[in-house]
Amino acid sequence: MTLSDVTRAELAELAGRYPQARSALLPMLHLVQSAEGNVTNEGIEVCAAILGISAAEVSGVATFYTMYKRRPMGEHHVGVCTNTLCAVMGGDLIFERLKGHLDVGNDETTEDGMVTLEHIECNAACDFAPVMTVNWEFFDNQTPESAVDLVDRLRAGETVQATRGATITSWRAAERVIAGYEDGLVDEGPTAAGASLAGLQIAKERGWTAPPVGASTSSTGEASTSSTGESGETSEGSKAGAAAEADTSRAETETVIEQSPANTAKEGSDD
Ligand code: FES
Repeated sequence: MTLSDVTRAELAELAGRYPQARSALLPMLHLVQSAEGNVTNEGIEVCAAILGISAAEVSGVATFYTMYKRRPMGEHHVGVCTNTLCAVMGGDLIFERLKGHLDVGNDETTEDGMVTLEHIECNAACDFAPVMTVNWEFFDNQTPESAVDLVDRLRAGETVQATRGATITSWRAAERVIAGYEDGLVDEGPTAAGASLAGLQIAKERGWTAPPVGASTSSTGEASTSSTGESGETSEGSKAGAAAEADTSRAETETVIEQSPANTAKEGSDD
């Protein structure tokens, strides 16, 4: 496949979005993937020519980050988090079940070209472990059974809705969005829910608010304004002091929690 004139124009347009053109390399590579199905040699050459850097430099980036694929991808990218928390919560089981069900290994695509399976690292969604992704949209609290049902529906071409995110389109379409071209689905579905919002809910119930900008938190939990120069900039000394104060405050808070009646009672009941 050859990069179309439209894609070449869009790559140049992306480069023009940044004060330093080479800052556009990451989205440009995503756009190449959207157009080509993976980062092709031609895509690398075109990016290098537009940015005025060497193909080796582009290749170095394309081979460093795991979101860039050098082999053709399936219609959908299915990721299974097998990082520590997801793994112990069932991620390893899910990955093994899917490998058998789809008859593929890691980073391989099913015979029908519909699913590329990959084990992925922590997606910062540990509160919903074990987590899967389809084209980088979240599927929370999965089980081997729900994972099999999910890939079956994808292969059947059914409409699938992410747990927290948009309706699933395709890996290529998602890559175009990541490159910076919106598809109008950005506001679909919740982006945060349940466990992720528990801390916020507690803060609301107790009337906690973030300290104002420039304030540090005292050991009593009260916000105070840190010392600044006339320019309004915080000196290195006061920054170090604020950091030390924050550490002391946290240690004191943890000590208070450890010594709380509830924890003392819990420790007693554990014996
Ligand atoms: S370990 Fe899976 S999302 Fe963090």
